[in-house]
Amino acid sequence: MDLPGGLITALKNADKVLVLTGAGMSAESGVPTFRDAQTGLWAKYRPEDLATPEAFARNPQTVWDWYEDRRKKVREVRPHAGHSALVEMEQHFSSFLLVTQNVDSLHQQAGSSDVVELHGNIMRSICSLTGKAIDADWISAHPGRPPASPHHARGLARPGVVWFGEALPEHVMKRALAAASSCDVCFSIGTSSLVQPAASLPFAALSAGAVIVEINPVPTSLSAAAQFSLQATAADALTAILAGLSRCR
Ligand code: OAD
Repeated sequence: MDLPGGLITALKNADKVLVLTGAGMSAESGVPTFRDAQTGLWAKYRPEDLATPEAFARNPQTVWDWYEDRRKKVREVRPHAGHSALVEMEQHFSSFLLVTQNVDSLHQQAGSSDVVELHGNIMRSICSLTGKAIDADWISAHPGRPPASPHHARGLARPGVVWFGEALPEHVMKRALAAASSCDVCFSIGTSSLVQPAASLPFAALSAGAVIVEINPVPTSLSAAAQFSLQATAADALTAILAGLSRCR
């Protein structure tokens, strides 16, 4: 694909890069997004029935089974060329932080060295009452949907993800915000820019003077503010950007 003029130059002049990814980053691997009409998970399910602490308290089995189903699908998918391009891009900058809203580990599978998971990880389980991590071995060795928690007599295992109405782990958001306020370039890739506080990161970077590069086939509330808004898929845009960077080395 053709890249907008000035993009590779802006990247060549950058030392510190922050990348924020969302569900659209995983779409080309076969993981459904949340808000795309027709194919998005929230077009088929109601988040308040499946992705809140109240939903889990009301019906832990329904919530657990839904996440088990998503885990099964995530186990079957593999990173795509865009994930690999982000791994290669690390070497072009002195500082490169990847912050993701995705819970599927695809960036880690691709080989990204430092990934900040804003919304947790679907493969992990935690105690519903203490928030302490529960080993996968415990989950497979204990019956129940969900199994009981080893950490509290009345606790249950629950997915290790951040649900609506829950705060993000403080240290995680702090690190992401610090990177946003000091980066030269901030990428926003495959996110609808609707969910806070993740959506605030590119705006924080913009306020601190960073160049914003958005990659999304559909315009978002960030598009007008971004210096470069690429209406393309993550795989197409990122492979083109990596090729451009490599040519200019
Ligand atoms: P959304 O589903 O809200 O947005 C996905 C975005 O990806 C949309 O703007 C699409 O246009 C775009 N997209 C689709 N295919 C793409 C592709 N091949 N390449 C690039 N972009 C593409 O997902 P998020 O913004 O990640 O939270 O949603 C944020 C949070 O809301 C999620 O982390 C999740 C959800 O509820 C939790 O589970 C806590």
